[in-house]
Amino acid sequence: MPWPDLIGLAGRPLKPPHNTVNAVKLLQKLSVSLLGAVNNYVAANRTKTSYFVVGGRYATRCIHSRASRTAPMKTIACIEDLRALARRKVPKAFFEYADSGSYNEETLRANRADLENIKLRQRVMVDVSDRNLATSIVGQKVSAPFALAPIGLCGLQYGDGEILSAQAAEEADIPFILSTMSINSIEHVAEATTRPFWFQLYVIRDRGFSKDVLARAAKAGCNALVLTVDLQVLGQRHRDLRNGMTVPPQIRLKNIIDIATKPGWALSILRGKSKTFGNLAGHVKGMDDVTSLAQWTNSQFDPALNWKDVDWIKKIWPGKLIIKGVLDVEDAKTAVKLGADAIVVSNHGGRQLDGAPSSISALPAIAQAVGSDTEVLFDGGIRTGADMLRALGLGARACLIGRAYVYGLGAGGKNGVAKAIDILKKELSVAMALTGTTRVTDIGPQVIVGGEAKKKSVRKGTS
Ligand SMILES: Cc1cc2nc3c(=O)[nH]c(=O)nc-3n(C[C@H](O)[C@H](O)[C@H](O)COP(=O)(O)O)c2cc1C
Repeated sequence: MPWPDLIGLAGRPLKPPHNTVNAVKLLQKLSVSLLGAVNNYVAANRTKTSYFVVGGRYATRCIHSRASRTAPMKTIACIEDLRALARRKVPKAFFEYADSGSYNEETLRANRADLENIKLRQRVMVDVSDRNLATSIVGQKVSAPFALAPIGLCGLQYGDGEILSAQAAEEADIPFILSTMSINSIEHVAEATTRPFWFQLYVIRDRGFSKDVLARAAKAGCNALVLTVDLQVLGQRHRDLRNGMTVPPQIRLKNIIDIATKPGWALSILRGKSKTFGNLAGHVKGMDDVTSLAQWTNSQFDPALNWKDVDWIKKIWPGKLIIKGVLDVEDAKTAVKLGADAIVVSNHGGRQLDGAPSSISALPAIAQAVGSDTEVLFDGGIRTGADMLRALGLGARACLIGRAYVYGLGAGGKNGVAKAIDILKKELSVAMALTGTTRVTDIGPQVIVGGEAKKKSVRKGTS
């Protein structure tokens, strides 16, 4: 049974007014449905009946005790606190889907480790009383130098995850990028927001689908396209295999019990507008259920994708074009030659080529090689405002944040995303002050220890 279908088992979404009695009733219904699914499993595994009884009782007890509590976001000091809270609130399979990297997770770890190794240059006795984080990305004014990265299945961290994240981004005056593989559709997000958001495209074998989805994005007012180029084939995440996050999904007893013990999450999903791939359902002939759509998607990633396809995209996309997933100087130069308005130096958050360099280690040479007509954006491992300062110091104009806001979403829905954005802005502002910087647009190698020298060595090709 597909994951979202399982959630759908509990019936219709809760209608307002939502009160605790309603919530408890719904959770009882959910628990009965979930335990029904367990029953089928037990029927096929009679010897495990005792596990079922114990698991069912435990799940029901947790549902009752948790439903009667409100879940305040306790003291949240940093993104790591949001991560810890998300780990408690989101079922393990979905939390780990977001948290993990491919294969041995070497690149995932390197993204963080290499950022932490870059030391910031402390400066004193500079008047930093008036600081300004505002800048622009591909011509769009933003309140701070970052955007919310495209996240596939974002709406499985919290119901209506894409809508809530887009709203939080809009309120914070930063761009939101909707993934092709989102749960909420382009149209859902457009209806729930007032300003243009950006759309991310995976070019798949079915070029007709790519063309149609771009037309839908343009119609919805999306003003920039993020073309992801580092996913011609899929890297494997071991944790997903172990958790049954596969195509088709493997629902195990432990998953069902886990879901039953996360009532806040289950409620949010029940109330969500979509429980499938929002941009695909109804647009791929003959495939409406989650499993067939997931199978279709997996067979559609196109190993033949190449630079010629960028020409084609440019012909059919009227807005700005951002090429995401560049980690090599030669590729960056090609993207520039093809007329990209921006590139994103990225290794997909350590989820594709394991063993690839960290994004931050690839950034300086690429920033040096790219002329001023193409903006250089950066992502991979950003968890603090100081990380952003590091990336800007090494040549990025702005950053995308991925997991940092996904943890916020899992921890507290829209409030959690807003909290993540707020934390990063405040941390960046303080880091700027303590490096003697007042304007984001002034950040350069001078904020990094040895930054000027490193810049020169990159220019000479000795780094
Ligand atoms: C759960 C998850 C799903 C993602 N889905 C997409 C996607 O659909 N399209 C895409 O271009 N990148 C996707 N990415 C990569 C992010 O856009 C971004 O490059 C990465 O998360 C940056 O690293 P960070 O999470 O350490 O900030 C995904 C990343 C995660 C963690």
